[in-house]
Amino acid sequence: MPAIGTGEYRIALTESFRWRYAHNQDFWTSDPSLPRIAAMLLDYLEDRPNQNILDIGAGRGRDTRTFLEAGHRVTAIDLHRTSEWDELEDRWGPKLRFINSLVQDWVTSDMFDGAIDNGCFHHQHEEEYPTYLDRVCGVLKPGAHVVFCVFSPSEDDQGRGRFQVMDHGRVGRYFVEAEVRSLFTSHGFTWRASGRFRLPDNSCDNLACVVQTTR
Ligand SMILES: C[S@@+](CC[C@H](N)C(=O)[O-])C[C@H]1O[C@@H](n2cnc3c(N)ncnc32)[C@H](O)[C@@H]1O
Repeated sequence: MPAIGTGEYRIALTESFRWRYAHNQDFWTSDPSLPRIAAMLLDYLEDRPNQNILDIGAGRGRDTRTFLEAGHRVTAIDLHRTSEWDELEDRWGPKLRFINSLVQDWVTSDMFDGAIDNGCFHHQHEEEYPTYLDRVCGVLKPGAHVVFCVFSPSEDDQGRGRFQVMDHGRVGRYFVEAEVRSLFTSHGFTWRASGRFRLPDNSCDNLACVVQTTR
């Protein structure tokens, strides 16, 4: 992790995503592998409608829409609010709630049946990993599943993870599976499964990590 404090990093992170959305540089929104992460969580949800789902770092709401159309309620949280949320809120009314906040700062008494983190965790400051994971774990019901999708070096390069500095000083963390597995299991989760999808430009993989809170 580059030598930058957490306060300064939060500003960089917010400015980077604001700029990306404002200039239509949010390539992840159209990454063809990312809808598979929401499909994975749907497979793990019990066959029961109207479950309470948390979409962490929800972006333009692609996955939120998937869960709403599957008959669930969604709380979507993101540090940046894009224009799509007005239309989504009009369409889905009380089944959808959008929270404009950093996940680490969010305080709620709501409890969730499942959660998705599709590309948010791997951009956090390393010193905030514990707060972030404790916050997520703390709002999940016992036995709830979460699917985290993180960058991972491609299969040929599995020895160690690395950081990449992106625009505005935003960081992308590329985790090898053992690293991320150890992080999640030391913050209240049980490891269940993983899946790997190559990014469209072949630069690395998206690693989907399925974890569960203790029953
Ligand atoms: C790579 S994008 C993925 C967006 C969406 N999940 C998708 O798959 O299209 C990461 C998102 O996380 C949001 N984000 C990053 N760090 C965050 C944090 N600490 N709290 C809340 N949102 C955050 C960004 O604004 C951005 O929309």
